[in-house]
Amino acid sequence: MRMYDIIEKKKQGGALSKEEIAFFVKGYTNGEIPDYQASALCMAICLKGMNDEETAELTFAIRDSGKKPDFSGIKSLRADKHSTGGVGDKTSLVICPIVASLGVTVAKMSGRGLGHTGGTVDKLEAIPGFRTDLDTETFCAIAEKTGLVIAGQSAELAPADKKLYALRDVTATVDSLPLIASSIMSKKLAADDDCIVLDVKTGSGAFMKSKEESEQLARVMVQIGKRAGKKMSALVTDMDVPLGNAIGNALEVREALEVLKGQGPEDLKELCFALSGEILVLAQKARDRAEGIVLAKEAVRSGKALEKFKEMVRAQGGDASVAEEPEKLAVSSLKHPVCAPEDGFISAVDAAGYGKAALLLGAGRNCKEDAIDLGAGILLIKKTGDAVKRGEPIAVLCGAREDRLFAAEKQLLESTVFSAKAPPKRELILAHLT
Ligand code: URA
Repeated sequence: MRMYDIIEKKKQGGALSKEEIAFFVKGYTNGEIPDYQASALCMAICLKGMNDEETAELTFAIRDSGKKPDFSGIKSLRADKHSTGGVGDKTSLVICPIVASLGVTVAKMSGRGLGHTGGTVDKLEAIPGFRTDLDTETFCAIAEKTGLVIAGQSAELAPADKKLYALRDVTATVDSLPLIASSIMSKKLAADDDCIVLDVKTGSGAFMKSKEESEQLARVMVQIGKRAGKKMSALVTDMDVPLGNAIGNALEVREALEVLKGQGPEDLKELCFALSGEILVLAQKARDRAEGIVLAKEAVRSGKALEKFKEMVRAQGGDASVAEEPEKLAVSSLKHPVCAPEDGFISAVDAAGYGKAALLLGAGRNCKEDAIDLGAGILLIKKTGDAVKRGEPIAVLCGAREDRLFAAEKQLLESTVFSAKAPPKRELILAHLT
């Protein structure tokens, strides 16, 4: 087999065989296939696409490039929830303790934030002492003992994806549906959970800007998981507006704790309960989502979910008293209100623009090596649909550097559309695929 012929075949729009895909992934991972040939193939895939079978084979080849964690000591079903990335999305911090408190094991490997989107691992590191760099043995041992562990991705998990993603990042080949689906699903399948619930975001703050594209991505990922024998479900959810009111790491953990205590913003609660309900259905703890939502709400009301969160924090070396004393989640001391320039309504926002404003404040990173300020971020006071008065604060910026506050304010105002008329009401959950 020759890499040249594989590239040529895809360039002509042909469907690659399982063997050709495995040849490429194996050869690229072990360094036999150079970057220039791998990038040529990624570009051909971007332009010509892949059918469902090719996409699944690509996923399986990437999944099999590394080692799976050993969960043989865990008897209960294991579940994971994956979000395709958004702004203000702290749902994992709420959902994982909820379902774990109801007997579903969650051993989650999560990513860091990049660009305008946040990452669960960064958020958890805002908790004093919390360790996310667990070796696989410790990770599995905590999962077995507490039923809940969330850590960074081990280097052994789907290493082909790391190499391919870095290549795609610099060759304008990230935004290809089969490449995105295989990249996400290879890591989910390598973690080897029984049930996977996907939260596929759509809108200005998401990878996929249209509902149709997001539904297509959800459909492809669900079919890949099913081919691998997993129980799958996906919700397509709105990311035209940041989720909840907090953007930034410490602020988001504070908001997640509010939800675990039965408070917090309605949109965030709705999504957390819906996704928890989906997991509980797949894990056979509930007959349907409605019943799952009732169980999830009860886990919050009774305090079981918050207790499970604290158990996880303690097991991972963190200070669990943050649950009662959220001020221990340090937020930057410089605060700057952003005020509405006119009377009327917020009719739309660019969620990615809000993410970029948080990034300017230091809450995110432009490239993987950047350090972040865990205390920086934005508290939203008004969101899409809300009435505003001229001079009234719509958000508070938190940061450590005064010069950045003004750049972030400009970015936030440029990302906000004001109008005289109220916009139509928005739905949060736009589609459900099983
Ligand atoms: N997230 C991933 O893990 N991979 C992609 O290709 C896109 C988003």
